[in-house]
Amino acid sequence: MSQILFLFIFIIFVFVSQLEARDLHRIRFRSPYLYPEGLTYDPLFQHFIVASSFNLLPNPTVNAVSDAGVTETLTLITSQLPPDSTILGLSVDHRHRRLLAAVNSPSSPYLASFNLRRSSLDLDFLSPLLPSTGIANDVAFDAIGNAYVTNSDKNFIWKVDQNGVASVLSNSTLFRKYPVNETSPYSYCGLNGIAYVTTKEYLLAVQSNTGKMFKVDAVDGTARTVILPEDLPLADGIAVRDDGVVVVVSMNSAWFLKSDDSWAQAVLIDKIALDKEGYATSVTVGGGGRVYVVYGYVQEVLKGISQEREWFRIEEIKIRSKREKEEQEESMLWPILLIGLGLGYFVFWKLQMSQFVNRMDRKRD
Ligand SMILES: *[C@@H]1O[C@H](CO)[C@@H](O)[C@H](O)[C@H]1NC(C)=O
Ligand SMILES: *[C@@H]1O[C@H](CO)[C@@H](O)[C@H](O)[C@H]1NC(C)=O
Repeated sequence: MSQILFLFIFIIFVFVSQLEARDLHRIRFRSPYLYPEGLTYDPLFQHFIVASSFNLLPNPTVNAVSDAGVTETLTLITSQLPPDSTILGLSVDHRHRRLLAAVNSPSSPYLASFNLRRSSLDLDFLSPLLPSTGIANDVAFDAIGNAYVTNSDKNFIWKVDQNGVASVLSNSTLFRKYPVNETSPYSYCGLNGIAYVTTKEYLLAVQSNTGKMFKVDAVDGTARTVILPEDLPLADGIAVRDDGVVVVVSMNSAWFLKSDDSWAQAVLIDKIALDKEGYATSVTVGGGGRVYVVYGYVQEVLKGISQEREWFRIEEIKIRSKREKEEQEESMLWPILLIGLGLGYFVFWKLQMSQFVNRMDRKRD
C-alpha cells in the first residue's frame, strides 16, 4: 500500500511541475543575422515586431513574428533610412497606428515613425535627434503622440512631438549622480529602457550601469529617483502591464515591481532568473496581457563569438504563483520529505516483518 502511495505522490509532483512549465508560451523564430534588441507587439495584427540591431544585413530589417513563430519581413517604404542604420528600441503606438523606432547611424541618432500596414512600414517621419550625439536606445510614447527616447551614451531624454520635432526633455543631474563601475562590462550604457505611465504624465526610465530607476515628468522633465527594494543591475528593457505592474529585464533577471504611491517607491513582487545565454534585452506586453522577453543573443556579436545565428526566441515570463514560489523556496523540503517517507516505509516494513516472524514462531510452537 505505502509503495503505491509513495509513487502516487511522486507522479503528482512531476505532473504539477510539468504543468507550470508547459503553461508558458515559447516562440522560436528563424531570421538569419537579425540579432534583435527591441521587441514590441501589434495588437491589431497580433504579431510581435523585432528589428536588426547590427549591420549584419545589407539593409535595416524589421520583421513581424506571429504567435506561432511565422516570420515575415516588413517592407520599409522609405528612401531616407541610411542603409547602415541599426534599430534598437521599438514601440507600437496602437492609437495612432504607427511604429516608433530608435535608429542609429554613424551620422546621427534618429527617431523613425512608420505607419503600420500588415506587411509593410510606410515612413511617416525620420527625425534627427538633436543634439545628435550618443545612442538612441529605447522609445516610449504618450496618448497625444509625443515620443520619448533615451540616450544611453550621454544620459538624457529626447522628446519628439507628433510632427517629428525633437528637443531635450530631461538632462537631470540625477542621471549622473550615481557611481558607475568603470571596469565592469557595459559601463558605457546609461539610460536605457523607458515606459510611459498612462494617464499620469510621467515616464519611468532605467539606467543599466547604475541599476537605478527614475520617474521623469513628461511635461517639464524633472526627475526623481524611484526608491527600490534593490538595485536593478544591467536593467535594460521596461514594460508596464495593464494592471500597473512594471516589468524590468536585464540579461540575468526580470523584476516584477508595483507601487502604491505613483512610483515614489516600488515594491518587488517577484524576481525571476532569465536564460543568460539568450541575453534578454527587451520586454513587452503581448496578446492576452502576457509579458514576453526577446532572447536576441546580441552578446554573440558584441563579443565577436559568432555572427551567423539563424534562430532567436520570444518567450513569455510571469510572476510565479505564491504556492509555486513557496515550493521553490522550500525545494529543500522535498528531499527531506522523501527521506522521511522512505524511513517511515522502512519502519513499517520492519514492523510487519517482526509480526510475520512472530506469527511464524507462534505457528512453530
Ligand atoms: C547635460 O548636462 C551635462 C552636464 O551639465 C552637459 O555637459 C551636457 O552638455 C548636457 N546635455 C544636454 C543635451 O543638454
Ligand atoms: C567592478 O566590475 C568588475 C568587473 O565586473 C568587478 O570585478 C569589480 O568587483 C567591480 N567593482 C565593484 C566595486 O563593484
